[in-house]
Amino acid sequence: MKLSLPKDSAMQSTDFTYGVATSSFQIEGAAEQRLPCIWDTFCNTPDKIKDQSTGLVACEHIERWQEDLDLIDSLNVDAYRFSISWPRVMLENGTLNHGGVSFYLQILDRLKEKNIKAYVTLYHWDLPQYIEDNGGWLNRETAYMFSHYTDLISQAFGDRVHSYATLNEPFCSGYLGYEIGIHAPGIIGKQYGKKAIHHLLLAHGLAMQVLQKNSPNTINGIVLNFTPGYAISDKAEDIAAAELANQHFNHWYIKPIIEGNYPDLLSKLPMDQRPDVLAGDLEIISHSIDFLGVNYYTRAVYRHDDDEGFSQELPQNVELTDMGWEVSPNAFTELLVSLNEQYQLPPVYITENGAAMVDEIHDGVITDIQRINYYQSHLNAVNDAIKQGVNICAYFAWSLMDNFEWAEGYLKRFGIVYVDYQTQKRTIKASGLAYRDLIEARKI
Ligand code: FCB
Repeated sequence: MKLSLPKDSAMQSTDFTYGVATSSFQIEGAAEQRLPCIWDTFCNTPDKIKDQSTGLVACEHIERWQEDLDLIDSLNVDAYRFSISWPRVMLENGTLNHGGVSFYLQILDRLKEKNIKAYVTLYHWDLPQYIEDNGGWLNRETAYMFSHYTDLISQAFGDRVHSYATLNEPFCSGYLGYEIGIHAPGIIGKQYGKKAIHHLLLAHGLAMQVLQKNSPNTINGIVLNFTPGYAISDKAEDIAAAELANQHFNHWYIKPIIEGNYPDLLSKLPMDQRPDVLAGDLEIISHSIDFLGVNYYTRAVYRHDDDEGFSQELPQNVELTDMGWEVSPNAFTELLVSLNEQYQLPPVYITENGAAMVDEIHDGVITDIQRINYYQSHLNAVNDAIKQGVNICAYFAWSLMDNFEWAEGYLKRFGIVYVDYQTQKRTIKASGLAYRDLIEARKI
């Protein structure tokens, strides 16, 4: 099984960047060498993680990083997107933890030797627990602590980084973590979500100022996730429901960053659900970005609901991944084209795309045909968006390898490399081989 793109596709050019992505908490392990974070606490809270697992060991990446970088190299990728664990590189007194910093310096130096570009995410959800104990993202002060951490770490990394993303998916850390509580720190209440999100966005803007000063030659931006909402019928009330969901879950993040304003929805929210926006905040948040990272997995379908305005429908008679997410490559193209029509976008990077499937290993081989089909249709969906005028320069597969999938624990496998958690053996899946060949073919 192969992955293929049209011969004349811009994605067949070596100017287009292909990569694989991971994040710190999901792969690193060696928790004893860093401070505790909100995900450690969440994992230790009964019934939060489906298989009751933790990130204490994960993929043992801290010990196996050299083997993992060789694996990345063997996939022919141009770039590796990974995140820095804030609790590994910072001490509670606000100074650097040099042990943690050297771990990442080794990675950055090895990537440079291998000519693989480092795409560094500064926050992929592992907030130090001592900061949460002080209010976490509900406390405005956390935004300034993030900017301080960004300051020290970007100085320590010097010119080794190709691209910085401030945050990964503030929707997840803000809404899932502080409104519906299915992610760490598990706080529930409509009065919290948008307050936490505002401080996350403020942290992003403050960090952009720091990066522009410390690291003006890196390509600095943010990674947002989008789950485009569709109406279940063409009834006006269902169309309005989908539009409302889109304002809450998608535009709420991109609009302040690109345009310096929250959606009009802001003025319709009950007072206690509004964020605490101080004078000058939106100016900071809308600091210009060099790229927009887009993570896409699926779409959502909504119908009108008298209480909430919208309610999500479970997908029926459609192909699903192991997460229960609908496979919808067309929604991916439509999302990219509509964002491009609606906003003045900087260059777009697809910073995550991929699928969890039930993988079986037989005689050391994983024939993950359904995942190959997913990549085939979604890579071509990106190509269709490029043909329709969207400036997309990079694509990262989520994920390099199977890892700790947050509230799902180790039950869901997103890797293009299989991980045997008993032995920590890594085996490239058929999808990984197909991805490697697609990238290689382009180079000829
Ligand atoms: C995204 C996260 C990533 C991974 C994928 C499946 O929301 O950024 O860490 O969990 O989903």
